[in-house]
Amino acid sequence: MSSMLPPPATQALSYILPSEPLLLMGAGPVPIPHAVARANGVVINHLGETMDKVIAGVKAMARYAFQTESEKVLGVGGPSSGAMEMAMASFVWPGRRVLCLKSGTFSGRLGEMARGLGGEVTTLEPPVATPITAKMVEEALSRDRYDVVTIAQGETSCGLLNVELPEICAVAQKHGALMVVDAVCTLTTMPMQMDEWGIDAAVTGGQKGLSSIPGVSLIAFSERAFEVLEQRPSSRPHWCFDAKRAWAFWGSQQYHYTAPVPGVLALYEALRLICEETLPRRFERHRVSSLALQAGIEAMGLRLFVPAPQRLNSVVAIEVPEGVDGAKVRRHMSEVYNVEISGAFGLNIVRVGQMGEQCRSHNLFKVLYAMGMAFRREGAKLDVAAGLAALEEALGEAGRTVG
Ligand SMILES: Cc1ncc(COP(=O)(O)O)c(C=O)c1O
Repeated sequence: MSSMLPPPATQALSYILPSEPLLLMGAGPVPIPHAVARANGVVINHLGETMDKVIAGVKAMARYAFQTESEKVLGVGGPSSGAMEMAMASFVWPGRRVLCLKSGTFSGRLGEMARGLGGEVTTLEPPVATPITAKMVEEALSRDRYDVVTIAQGETSCGLLNVELPEICAVAQKHGALMVVDAVCTLTTMPMQMDEWGIDAAVTGGQKGLSSIPGVSLIAFSERAFEVLEQRPSSRPHWCFDAKRAWAFWGSQQYHYTAPVPGVLALYEALRLICEETLPRRFERHRVSSLALQAGIEAMGLRLFVPAPQRLNSVVAIEVPEGVDGAKVRRHMSEVYNVEISGAFGLNIVRVGQMGEQCRSHNLFKVLYAMGMAFRREGAKLDVAAGLAALEEALGEAGRTVG
């Protein structure tokens, strides 16, 4: 006992957290509704009748979010990357050929995972902020045979939307490849028709479009894809992220690991709110909100990084003007205006999120004002008032949709 280490000095969390929580207007996590926060404070047994009802509800509502009739919808105790890992570990083993359609950090991560699993990975990577086209994929799949094709519907790292996703899925299906889609920042913010487009595995996280908490994610498999993973010839390298094992819990309420119960309850409430809003209304809210914000940003004098036709609405990337330090802008926004936005991975941009609860008019005015003033302080020549006026005008009547 004499050699026991002493406890460290401690501090209540309230001394660490800011007295007024920062408004999260970055690329995720995003603010969560009260119902989600309340659910996240509840612990119940992860096995038993009450949890069975919760799981059944999560699956039914997630099927609506993914637009699939497949039974094989599962929650994942882990970040979106965990759900991505589950998708890749399901279909990739030594010798499997994977075509990674890379638009940035996250879509590239699917390729890294495939490589780690022993897959033979070919990466198709157009210049930054350029979408992948069905023609490029058709050429690649006509040249060589692939078992799996991976893509991100929205590439958060640069604000790009892969507009030809439905056509790309059709090409993959024609060539007999399984299609894995990262819908982490897009699900429920814009259309994604899993069954209609022929997607075999789609993943999303809680902390983005769903407006739930980070660390609990969702994955949906097509029935045909689930057969592939159930019959895979080689051993299964993952335990937690093994879909077949996880299906014991999500399919028949048997123990896999102790589920992150509060996170699953939070997800339930987030999905319930989505079902109550309905997808068409939610898509419209995101569209109106993001376009109004984009109009405000441009009217202020800043440039958007991605051209309009392939611009992602859920994460808006903004060029940092010459001579301005984007990190200082973000710091000033947090310190003075209590608003947080994101930097980027190696690109000279800042990113504003438009996912879930971020798409509310009071949040738009706050982030646009804070950003304009902070950029101006760092030397950018901006007309902040013109930006706010453009935002107001763009919201106009449609502002009621945004709430
Ligand atoms: C498109 C996309 N995919 C994957 C991820 C990884 O999510 P997580 O950090 O929850 O693992 C992110 C996170 O920003 C993302 O935006």
